[in-house]
Amino acid sequence: MEILSASFVISSATVEQCPPQKLPEYAFIGRSNVGKSSLINMLTGRKKLAKTSGTPGKTQLINHFLINENWFLVDLPGYGYAKTSKKNKRSFQKMISSYFLEREQLMGAFVLIDVRHPPQKIDVDFMYWLGSKAIPFSIIFTKADKLKPKVLDRHITHYQNVLKKTWDPLPNHFLSSSVKKTGKTAILNYIDTINEQLKRD
Ligand code: GTP
Ligand code: MG
Repeated sequence: MEILSASFVISSATVEQCPPQKLPEYAFIGRSNVGKSSLINMLTGRKKLAKTSGTPGKTQLINHFLINENWFLVDLPGYGYAKTSKKNKRSFQKMISSYFLEREQLMGAFVLIDVRHPPQKIDVDFMYWLGSKAIPFSIIFTKADKLKPKVLDRHITHYQNVLKKTWDPLPNHFLSSSVKKTGKTAILNYIDTINEQLKRD
């Protein structure tokens, strides 16, 4: 799928403030600093569409980007950001969980995982929660440029072995690098397939 247009629409602090249009949307979620905003920029080919930062906790609201005038990409704040207050953590959690539970237009979530690290409880638990709520999701292993191909394969296999304890079949997964533009075609084609399917339904 070609990205013909991509524009920022609104930042929302609650799910009620999100755009009213009933367009299909796809949300990017994961730990702070995993590369959610960078991936949105890579996919859309717009370097500064979503704000990125080397410091975790950059994205603090639900950000909607309108793509090709007929679907949304959604950039969410990261979970597991250690340096924020307990009160803040709770309000983030509430924002994220009500978004996933109440946003009917959400056609798929992408859970981003930094491919360099072994499975973290917070990510595995979050995927389990999505599954328990029947929210469809795929995994995107990010920052693929940081590892040599053999190590990369080993990490992904290990991650899948851990997930196999809970999941059958395993969640769909993609590999990405926002630096090398890895994964762009596969992720966009996947979204396109769902969008086309929705048009037929
Ligand atoms: P929060 O909004 O704080 O939750 O973070 P985020 O998940 O949106 O991460 P962001 O896109 O802001 O990226 C965090 C840092 O990781 C930045 O310094 C990016 O340049 C870097 N980064 C993101 N994606 C990649 C990647 O694919 N490869 C490499 N090498 N660095 C990346
Ligand atoms: Mg961000």
